[in-house]
Amino acid sequence: MNSQKTKIDKSSIQKSIAQYCKILRLPQVTDSFEEEALKASKTKLSYQEYLYTLLQHQVLVRTDNSINARIKKARFPFIKTLEEFDYSFQPKMDEKLLRELGNLNFLDKAQNLLFIGPPGVGKTHLAIAMGMKAAQAQKRVLFYTAENLVEELVAAEVSGKLNSFLDVMGRIDLLIIDELGYLKMTRPAAELFFKLIAKRYELGSVIVTGNKTFEHWGEIFADEVVAAAILDRLLHHSFPFFIQGKSYRMKNITGD
Ligand SMILES: Nc1ncnc2c1ncn2[C@@H]1O[C@H](COP(=O)(O)OP(=O)(O)OP(=O)(O)O)[C@@H](O)[C@H]1O
Ligand SMILES: [Mg+2]
Repeated sequence: MNSQKTKIDKSSIQKSIAQYCKILRLPQVTDSFEEEALKASKTKLSYQEYLYTLLQHQVLVRTDNSINARIKKARFPFIKTLEEFDYSFQPKMDEKLLRELGNLNFLDKAQNLLFIGPPGVGKTHLAIAMGMKAAQAQKRVLFYTAENLVEELVAAEVSGKLNSFLDVMGRIDLLIIDELGYLKMTRPAAELFFKLIAKRYELGSVIVTGNKTFEHWGEIFADEVVAAAILDRLLHHSFPFFIQGKSYRMKNITGD
């Protein structure tokens, strides 16, 4: 009789724990509290150690989920990491500086990174790698090609939503603009692009990749004055990297 009473109590306690976990949104605790309790009694864990194990697991899973959501939201075209970058292929790259930038202090100071160079030298790779570091640090990141970004700016303007789009762009922690200069912008597009850069100036970091050195930016933006104004803001607090060398895409083809 007594043992049945204990059994009923135990199962109703378990049900209540599961329910409380649901209210508190602790699904990992729900999944593991019984199994961990058995383990704890076998390995003689203290009450605090048991609670610690449960909460730690929950926090790790939640952090992981939140990082994955940030990576997804960033809309990277592919995933690359700083650790994967082969500095021996790019011996003139300032490895120490890149690694330091990987600590993301530049984000707090709203500094910009510019990766300029010919095709296949790792510009997009490095931009994504920095974006991944930022997403892993739970920062809000957005990846755009310059072409897509201009399309969205134009669409926002046409639908009368430019200011709210610029507000959203102003609030993210890191904006990546890939392939600037691959396509020339019309003058109205360049002016919208200027508004965006001006919005983020000294407020949030931008990473730009492009194939044109700065003296040719007038050609990208259809106007020397707009180009100078954009460049001035991007460069003011920035780390420009001028990457040279052969395309990594040809690495295996050429047999290097
Ligand atoms: N130094 C490197 N170490 C490892 N992988 C590299 C390196 N450089 C480039 N790659 C790889 O080579 C491919 C091309 O690099 P990436 O896309 O970054 O080139 P890019 O400079 O952006 O070229 P494009 O101007 O054509 O867009 C990618 O798969 C990238 O991961
Ligand atoms: Mg690229």
